Amino acid sequence: MKELGGTEALVDLLQALAERGYRFVPPTPETHRRVLSRAPKARAKDLRDVFGWSLPFSEGTLEPEIIARMGAAGVLRRQGQRSKSGVRVASLGSNLFLHSAYPADDGAVFFGPDTYRFVDFLTRELGDGWRPRRVLDFGAGSGAGGIAVAQICHPERLVLADVNPAALRLAAANGRFAGVTAEVRLWDDLQRVEGPFDLVIANPPFIADGGHTYRNGRGMHGAELSLQWVQAGSDLLADDGRLLVYTGAAICGGRDALREALEQSFADGPFDLSYREIDPDIFGEELSRPAYRDVERIAAVGIGVRRRERVSEQREAIQGAKAFLGLVMAGAPPS
Ligand SMILES: C[S@@+](CC[C@H](N)C(=O)[O-])C[C@H]1O[C@@H](n2cnc3c(N)ncnc32)[C@H](O)[C@@H]1O
Repeated sequence: MKELGGTEALVDLLQALAERGYRFVPPTPETHRRVLSRAPKARAKDLRDVFGWSLPFSEGTLEPEIIARMGAAGVLRRQGQRSKSGVRVASLGSNLFLHSAYPADDGAVFFGPDTYRFVDFLTRELGDGWRPRRVLDFGAGSGAGGIAVAQICHPERLVLADVNPAALRLAAANGRFAGVTAEVRLWDDLQRVEGPFDLVIANPPFIADGGHTYRNGRGMHGAELSLQWVQAGSDLLADDGRLLVYTGAAICGGRDALREALEQSFADGPFDLSYREIDPDIFGEELSRPAYRDVERIAAVGIGVRRRERVSEQREAIQGAKAFLGLVMAGAPPS
């Protein structure tokens, strides 16, 4: 997305769409493909066709003001007699999010049904009035997760980090449109990030053998990156800090290898782990691929890690020592 204009021009485009009541919920790529295949030569009739379904449009379909704003934002792509938008726009609550045009390529900026489930998970988990000061959204994509958290918790610092520079450009504009102040960072290794953070959130890639960067979760049937991000993200947590990760877990023979690896990894140490299935069956079409030959379903899961306060751990240790000393002074044989 080298041709993109500046943040202000992108925000102006979002503003124009908002003023016209634009709404669109992007489905999975497979659903998108099926819907478009009903009319392979279709041309866009309205804003939803252009910015939601990524359909080409002819001159006169869009208002001159929208065309001018697309030009200024660097998202107007000419294709002979027709034009196309270089971005899509998704609606979530009262926000609008720029993301990549369909079909996606390796540099695509992701936004899809997982984003809605991720934000819903965050909203439920953060509904207790807790106020993290420093928040990191790792693999932020369009920034939807971090921006939602900022609107709920009003942190002092929000960092949106991603390996994809195009994601950061769109995230900066999406944040500005939502009225959220965010730092964007081109980071690709969570282990090298400097903490601490009170809250770390992520929706990592989780598809096995997934090709494009935004979806390839690597080994463990796609769960390898999720495992790494939960482990590295937990190490960045401040006292009483929380990590919230939404991801997909492949279930083989009734067993969830991601859950088992995390339970083993967090069995000792200063963390409390929670793990729950949010949806038992997502992306069923992936199971036809060889990488999933022994997988019975992919579950959407929500993972929480909380670092216990060091103060309360020390208090517990002191109380234990006092109890032990009390027994010794009273002459009882230490057990
Ligand atoms: C499934 S998308 C989620 C995007 C966004 N958080 C959302 O929920 O819509 C995963 C994101 O992780 C990013 N990513 C993949 N590998 C990464 C890495 N090594 N470091 C940082 N970001 C990475 C991708 O570019 C992509 O934006």
